[in-house]
Amino acid sequence: MASFAPPTTDEVLGLLRGVIDPELGGNVVDLGMIPAVTVSDDGHAVVHVKLTISGCPLRAQIKKDVETRVGAHPGVRTVRIEWGEMTSDERSEVMLKARWAAREQAPDTAIPATTRVLAIASGKGGVGKSSVTVNLAAAMAARGLTVGVLDADIWGFSVPRLLGMSDRLEAERVDGVDKPLIIPNERRVGSGILKVVSTGFLVDEETALMWRGLMLTKAVEQFLRDVRWGELDYLLIDMPPGTGDVQMGLARMLPRTDLIIVTTPAQAAQKVAVRAADMARRSFLRVAGVVENMSAFICEHGTSYPLFGSGGGAELAETIGAELLAQIPLEAAVAAGGDAGTPVALDGDGHAARAFRALAERIVTETVPPVTMSGCSARIAESVEVTFTRRPKP
Ligand SMILES: Nc1ncnc2c1ncn2[C@@H]1O[C@H](COP(=O)(O)OP(=O)(O)OP(=O)(O)O)[C@@H](O)[C@H]1O
Ligand SMILES: [Mg+2]
Repeated sequence: MASFAPPTTDEVLGLLRGVIDPELGGNVVDLGMIPAVTVSDDGHAVVHVKLTISGCPLRAQIKKDVETRVGAHPGVRTVRIEWGEMTSDERSEVMLKARWAAREQAPDTAIPATTRVLAIASGKGGVGKSSVTVNLAAAMAARGLTVGVLDADIWGFSVPRLLGMSDRLEAERVDGVDKPLIIPNERRVGSGILKVVSTGFLVDEETALMWRGLMLTKAVEQFLRDVRWGELDYLLIDMPPGTGDVQMGLARMLPRTDLIIVTTPAQAAQKVAVRAADMARRSFLRVAGVVENMSAFICEHGTSYPLFGSGGGAELAETIGAELLAQIPLEAAVAAGGDAGTPVALDGDGHAARAFRALAERIVTETVPPVTMSGCSARIAESVEVTFTRRPKP
């Protein structure tokens, strides 16, 4: 593998801004939980993490998030964490910050701090971002999860058709919020649920025209801010083709977003895909992995035909130092499922359906598992109370 320069301390801190303490609702850097970071010339990173209480059950989660985010930088060879515990003064400080962060963040996005956010992106159009998004979302929901789908392809939306949904979006007034919130369209999948928002649901001409006048990023911001998403295990974002604006906007509003880069097996497609990954790094978004779509067609006798070339996914993964999460074969059932509004991952039994379900399983159990609230809440509520009753007024 090619060798990469190790990241600077600032770059590591940028990556760590994507690590959220789900209970305090802020990122570990801004909360003051990272007193020091060092990176050696040969790529060994040491991250000092101060927990509010050393026995915190969230420790395992924070450890994994720190390791995967920092470890995702291609110039990092190992990540070691040095644990520390806050003094009671530091703890008071962090609680105060958490309160401020909670207050300040509220108007920005309505995405719960416990939601994992995955943006499905690619270097070029037509490689299957939308197909991967809806099949992954459906396969996750079939596992009993609550999955939001945000169609960020404002003008070229395809999510409504792919999921067979067409109801107009409605809005609702919520106490304490000055404007009505959009209610996502829902579709039950087994014991799970899909909550979907797309401009495709704003069907009348007038509304469509209004959206056309808006900047792309503004529209996506609105979908993050003015939608009553409610509880979500995952939010999947179907990115529009070839725009960096939306990605930069996402990085600003939801720095914890993980990217999944979709590519085809053609080697020539890799240059553009590398550019997409590059931009991710510059905006400190983590690339959670690569999905190769339209991989070799497998005929009924089991022979595979690499119609669109081969090796592109693995090559991209290697080039950007990410994992190859899945290879989804080229299969008529994928397109047919899309036309019928029934993602093939739901009840298909072909190679592609199985590959989509395996991708969901890998993400949910390994790559980006759901946030589990393993019981710190009572402790936090208690310390907040103690902090705010004992702390002298500033
Ligand atoms: N694995 C597959 N096998 C067969 N057909 C596929 C597969 N994946 C996607 N397709 C088909 O390829 C076309 C493009 O897919 P899709 O719309 O998902 O791509 P996209 O990257 O979202 O495109 P855009 O950049 O326009 O948003 C669709 O017609 C879809 O049905
Ligand atoms: Mg698309």
